[in-house]
Amino acid sequence: MTLLKQPLPTAPRLDPLVSGIRAALNHRGDWQRTAQHAASELRRYLPAPEMLTGIPPGELLHVEPDGTFSIQAIVWPAGRITRIHDHVTWCVFGVIQGVLDEELFTLDGSGDCLVPVGRSTNATGAVNGFAPPGDIHRVANNAGRTAISIHVYGTDLSRIGSSALRSYDLPVRP
Ligand SMILES: [Fe+2]
Repeated sequence: MTLLKQPLPTAPRLDPLVSGIRAALNHRGDWQRTAQHAASELRRYLPAPEMLTGIPPGELLHVEPDGTFSIQAIVWPAGRITRIHDHVTWCVFGVIQGVLDEELFTLDGSGDCLVPVGRSTNATGAVNGFAPPGDIHRVANNAGRTAISIHVYGTDLSRIGSSALRSYDLPVRP
């Protein structure tokens, strides 16, 4: 049986970004290269917060009809912090309001604890990308005011719901 999937309507005014991501995917490199190209496009077409007016928080802004990528805005109340997790696919994200801190980790050789390998503070306008493997991270809004970020994931989030592959409830080696 074939299930017909109705494409979600694209949020208004995001057409240049959607076109840019399509162009990035046409390079057909590996996930690292795709993330780099997609980050360049997101940097060029990073939406302003006003462009999301009227869109419910958490709603997908765009799902590509062939399922190759999705665009999502995430609202981060002050103090929000994710679990430590990795991802099913490449991702690029840009901060369009506020500041987000990101910590990167790797599993130690035994696999029973995590080792911090980097951290970054991403102010408004910052764009970053990553691709598995080596994508274990945690994101937090420590800035005391609401932050908003735009994420592009290389998958159909309307089908799988979340980009997170695994959560890591492991001690972090100091
Ligand atoms: Fe993540």
